[in-house]
Amino acid sequence: MPASLEQLQKLDAEYVMHTFARKPVAFVRGEGMRLQDDTGREYLDFVSGIGCVNLGHAHPAVTAAVCEQMGKLVHVSNLFYVEHRDEAAEQLVRLLGGGMKVFFANSGAEANEGAIKLARKWALANKPGAFGVVTAERSFHGRTMATLAATGQPSKQESFKPLPEGFSHVPLNDLDALAEAIDPTTAAVMIEVVQGEGGVWPATKQYVHGVRKLCDETNTLLIIDEVQTGFFRTGPAFAFLAFGIEPDIVTVAKAMANGLPIGALAATDSVASAFEPGDHGSTFAGGPVVCAAARATMDALIADDLGANARFIGEYLRGRLSELAASGHVAEIRGAGLMCGITLTKPVAAEAATALLERGIVVNSIGTDILRFLPPLVCGRAEVDTLLSALADVLAEVSS
Ligand SMILES: Cc1ncc(COP(=O)(O)O)c(C=O)c1O
Repeated sequence: MPASLEQLQKLDAEYVMHTFARKPVAFVRGEGMRLQDDTGREYLDFVSGIGCVNLGHAHPAVTAAVCEQMGKLVHVSNLFYVEHRDEAAEQLVRLLGGGMKVFFANSGAEANEGAIKLARKWALANKPGAFGVVTAERSFHGRTMATLAATGQPSKQESFKPLPEGFSHVPLNDLDALAEAIDPTTAAVMIEVVQGEGGVWPATKQYVHGVRKLCDETNTLLIIDEVQTGFFRTGPAFAFLAFGIEPDIVTVAKAMANGLPIGALAATDSVASAFEPGDHGSTFAGGPVVCAAARATMDALIADDLGANARFIGEYLRGRLSELAASGHVAEIRGAGLMCGITLTKPVAAEAATALLERGIVVNSIGTDILRFLPPLVCGRAEVDTLLSALADVLAEVSS
């Protein structure tokens, strides 16, 4: 018998640092879009562990790949060749469009940290004196000191100053502001093409093309953070592919191994060559178990054409949300594929998320007035219909 919610809450209160305001639910199982709690109650998951479980919970191909590798070899470090690491890199580079080299990490923050280091190292030979990174306001790039400095959310930075120097933030979709921010000390621009943690704010096509052009004109690297948007979440394998631009560095994590901790940065061959032996490293990253999981995940995402499903069901979800907007509770609907956010007309997002959880639907609230939906990419119309009917009731209830 797994521990009950009450037992876990007691242990958590006594032994775990309180950095998360956890919801009062203990999940013990999952399959596809469904989760089960310690009492056997079922839930529909519209969060996917914050955009990680793109294949759905307990995908059999990932489970089999992990179990097989666990029985063979778990860890020997990056000092040696192991099965799955180079194959996973090849597959990732193929999905990115080719011509890149990969460094493995363990998380999104670590992938971005590596990208920032690579940009600084590249600048030593290619743009002497440049070390800065310009990012967008409302962006999220991680919680390590450098990625926190890169994150365009002052409230998250306040208690941890002084932060590493060289980071500045400009409004998303404002090319003039970016042009003004880039100077001879700027090594890179880093953006999410759909901002996730900030509340699902998409960059426009004109902006993304303009950013690439500005970077080219000023000999500045373009880093695209695909940690949340990657692995078919928005439809294409990576969100930047929809814009037809070529980044210099791409960072990924979250869904790469369907929920196991892995991240990576990929850089064009010429930028990647700035890293030399000893410049960067990690004990665990690129291990055979997570890389076996990553290979199985990428294979299944492609075989099941889940990018097409993300596109199709994402359109359906936004269509149904537009119908709901007539109720007067929804001010704006944003997103791409199955990365969707709505701004409510009243600051009741947390209350709405709690009320939905009580009805067995897991969604995420951001700030006071944004709800975010990131279901596994196996989501179908029936699950969207279930969400929408509960959402209509809940918004009427919490808004009154
Ligand atoms: C766009 C983006 N970058 C970076 C991160 C940080 O990833 P991690 O939490 O794995 O360090 C996140 C996490 O939400 C993210 O959404």
